[in-house]
Amino acid sequence: MTMIKWLKFPSLGDSRGSLVALESSEIVPFNIKRVYYLFDTKDNVTRGNHAHKKLKQVMLCIKGSCTVSLDNGFSRECVNLNSPINGILVEGLIWREMSNFTKDCILLVIASENYDESDYIRDYNEFKKSI
Ligand code: TYD
Repeated sequence: MTMIKWLKFPSLGDSRGSLVALESSEIVPFNIKRVYYLFDTKDNVTRGNHAHKKLKQVMLCIKGSCTVSLDNGFSRECVNLNSPINGILVEGLIWREMSNFTKDCILLVIASENYDESDYIRDYNEFKKSI
């Protein structure tokens, strides 16, 4: 079964342009506690490289594009995020890595919990043991 859980965000477009509204428990399937974004990412940088014990996230590129690699400890899948109306839901014990950021990329992350370092697994061997 694929780890890539696509979400399509309805665009409230009219002749003036487009607008996407993301609400808790509607399009985003959890209560939103935190929103952060990565931008101005330098060349050849990878980010992430960790798993979360409890956190759920929705990720989308509101500008530009990047690659997200998802690893469940047995297999790895890559997806290109390149649209402000298509994102992915990342939940469960998944090791994630983001790469191939375009210069203009703004990666928006919507999270189910406040920042909590104790929810991170930053060591791949520890991640494999947790599976
Ligand atoms: P880090 O987890 O390394 O980012 P990424 O996994 O996306 O590469 O986070 C970088 C720094 O920012 C680190 O010191 C933790 C801090 N941080 C917060 O304070 N709050 C947050 O919501 C996030 C995501 C990170």
